[in-house]
Amino acid sequence: MQVYSRKFHNPRGVQAAVNPLPPDARPDIFFGNLSDIDDIRWIPQADGVAFLPLCFGVTQGYYVNLLRVRKSGVLSCHKHFGAVHAVVLKGRWFYLEHEEMYTEGSFIMEPPGETHTLVVPDDVPEMITWFHAVAGYIYLDGDNIVGHEDVFTKIASARRHYEENGLDQRDLDKLIR
Ligand SMILES: [Fe+2]
Repeated sequence: MQVYSRKFHNPRGVQAAVNPLPPDARPDIFFGNLSDIDDIRWIPQADGVAFLPLCFGVTQGYYVNLLRVRKSGVLSCHKHFGAVHAVVLKGRWFYLEHEEMYTEGSFIMEPPGETHTLVVPDDVPEMITWFHAVAGYIYLDGDNIVGHEDVFTKIASARRHYEENGLDQRDLDKLIR
């Protein structure tokens, strides 16, 4: 593991807080380098689509993950009931409903209530995007609701994948807040 210097300019001798966490606070979550994480920890979501869970916010109804797409095409049409924040880390994609192209380094905030259709273009071999999704969303086929997703469906599919692959469920427990 890479060791980094923690030396810093500190003429007043500032020390770490003595009680950084109140007694009932939950511990932080930290991943040193997301690109070093074993491929087996990515949860398959559809053909060529997987997500890497980072935080399951069960008490406030949100989740944070990386979404990875390794095929071109339409991912889904869905309607959100909470806000979505996203940062593109790799590749490029767009919503059919928007003019913008979301490229590496783009930040996106989608408001609650929006319906959109995520598309990855033909010339993108891989896209990875960080998502923070509040509440949940429904998958739509025209006006028909054909599925839904929220923090609990995300945990359930992660649990299934961990079970099938002999991974330690406690690693998922650590992400639940
Ligand atoms: Fe969305």
